[in-house]
Amino acid sequence: MADLSLDLCGVHFKNPIIAASGTFGFGREYDELYDIGALGGISVKGLCLGGRVGNPPSRITETPSGMLNCVGLQNPGIESFIEHDLPWLLTKDVNVIANFFGTSIDSYCAAAEAFAPTGVHMLEMNISCPNVHDGGVAFGVKPESVYEITKAVKAHSRQPLIVKLTPNVSDITENALAAQEAGADAISLINTLTGIAVDVHRRRMILANNTGGLSGPAVRPVALRMVWQCAKKVSIPIIGLGGIETGEDAAAFMLCGAKAVQVGTANFTDPFACPRIARELDAYCDAQKIANPQEIVGTLKSY
Ligand SMILES: Cc1cc2nc3c(=O)[nH]c(=O)nc-3n(C[C@H](O)[C@H](O)[C@H](O)COP(=O)(O)O)c2cc1C
Repeated sequence: MADLSLDLCGVHFKNPIIAASGTFGFGREYDELYDIGALGGISVKGLCLGGRVGNPPSRITETPSGMLNCVGLQNPGIESFIEHDLPWLLTKDVNVIANFFGTSIDSYCAAAEAFAPTGVHMLEMNISCPNVHDGGVAFGVKPESVYEITKAVKAHSRQPLIVKLTPNVSDITENALAAQEAGADAISLINTLTGIAVDVHRRRMILANNTGGLSGPAVRPVALRMVWQCAKKVSIPIIGLGGIETGEDAAAFMLCGAKAVQVGTANFTDPFACPRIARELDAYCDAQKIANPQEIVGTLKSY
C-alpha cells in the first residue's frame, strides 16, 4: 500500500481525493453509504450569506459523456450551514473545504470572514460559476478582477484560500498568475464549461437558464490541458478537477501538476466513486512502484 498523504497549504490530507463542490451536498447522504472519513476532503456545496433559491427548473440535462447544469448556486446559507451541518461534518475525520461566493467584493469578504471563527480547514472561493448573473464568473474572467477580489478576500480569510478558476477564458494561466500574485494559497480548476442543449422537437432550449455548465468525462481533456499549462506558470499548489472517474484519471491530473484532485460528476454515476478512486490510485502507485503519489506531481514527460 502506498502512502497517499500530503500537506496542502499546511493542512494534512490522508489522501488527495476531495469531493467537488455541488456534487456532494454537505456529505450526509454519502455518509449513509460509506464513511466519508475515507476521503481527504470535502468541498461543500457553494455557500453565500443568507442563502439562495437557485434557478427555476429545468436545471440538469445529460450530454454525451457528461451533463449540463444550471442549478444556480442554490444553498441554505452560510449561517444555516455553520449551525446545522458543520458541527456534524467536524465529527468526521475529513477536511472540510468551505466553497463560497458572493455578489460583490464586499459580500465575498463577509462570507470568508463568517468562516473565520469556525473549524473549516480551508476556503474555496468560487469566482467561476457560469450559472448566476450577479456574481460568480463576473469576477473570474479578467485577470485584473481575479487579482482585485483575491487580494480583498485574502485579507478577510483566516483559513488557507483556494481560488477556483473558470475555463471559460482564452488563457487561464493569466488568471492563475493573478490569483497567485494576489495572495491565493492554492488554485483549483476547472469549474464547468458553458454550453447549451437544444430540444429539436419543441425547437427550444432544454435548460430554463438557456445556458448551463458542462461537466463530467467530456471536459477531462480540457481540464488536463489547463492544469498542465497552469502548473508551468504558478508555484502555489494546484487542485485539479474535471471529469475524473478513476484512479488513473486522478494520476493523470497529478502528472500534469495537481497536488490533489476533486471528483464531481462521477459521484452521480457511482455514489462510491470517491473511495473507489482513492483505492485505485493506491493500486496504480503499487503497480508503478511509487511510495507516495506526490512523487509524480508535475513529472509528465512530453511525447
Ligand atoms: C450539479 C453541479 C453543481 C455544482 N455546484 C458548484 C458549486 O456550488 N460551487 C463550485 O465551485 N462548483 C460547483 N460545481 C462545479 C464542480 O465542482 C466541478 O468544478 C465541475 O463539475 C467539474 O468537475 P467534474 O467534471 O468532476 O464534475 C457544480 C457542478 C455540478 C455538476
